Amino acid sequence: MHDALTLPLDVEESLKAITRQGAEGAIKIWEDLNRYRAVIQATTPDVIVECGSWYGGSALWFAERGVDVITLDVDARNIVQAAINHPAITVITGNSADPDIAAQVAELVEGRRVMVVLDSDHSPEHVEREIDLYGSLVSSGCYLVVEDGIQRWMTYFAGLGPLDAIESRLVQRSEWVRDLLVEGMYPITMHPAGWWRHA
Ligand SMILES: C[S@@+](CC[C@H](N)C(=O)[O-])C[C@H]1O[C@@H](n2cnc3c(N)ncnc32)[C@H](O)[C@@H]1O
Repeated sequence: MHDALTLPLDVEESLKAITRQGAEGAIKIWEDLNRYRAVIQATTPDVIVECGSWYGGSALWFAERGVDVITLDVDARNIVQAAINHPAITVITGNSADPDIAAQVAELVEGRRVMVVLDSDHSPEHVEREIDLYGSLVSSGCYLVVEDGIQRWMTYFAGLGPLDAIESRLVQRSEWVRDLLVEGMYPITMHPAGWWRHA
């Protein structure tokens, strides 16, 4: 692991916590939802761009925090009517790695205070592509959250996942500041080294 990625993380307990995902309707654990609460309260984004909607649990949770949400998914079949009909949620169907989809999102968020959450395909190449396409949308002082770096310790994924993209795209880049205070709120997370503030 890259030296800069020394983690305030209990890997064993975090792996056990995977079964607790689903807190407050999102595919997340309560510790990470509290991190999101802290970040949203501190930075007051107007809009969150979320790659990976699934059924819309996290989009609804973000919208309940008083933030507009643009949520993208390649497969629209699972998303619930409550998310589709929510006045603060815009649902886009398409591949988040498609530059045309990213251009559509860029147009929708223009002039707004933007936070981005990456929670779709967790392969390193896909996350790198998303960082390239959506990272530049994040407003100064707002956050890019790269989810599920915990995959590095899951044998099924052979150690590959979002942390590889974090290492290649975010570590030691002057425009991105890793937030160790947010990470350090708890030793348990699905998103080690996942909380990055745009300088
Ligand atoms: C982990 S789920 C999202 C969970 C949701 N954010 C939550 O916390 O409630 C991942 C989603 O990413 C979607 N996905 C996978 N590959 C994608 C791609 N290339 N573009 C957009 N969405 C994709 C899947 O269809 C799936 O619904």
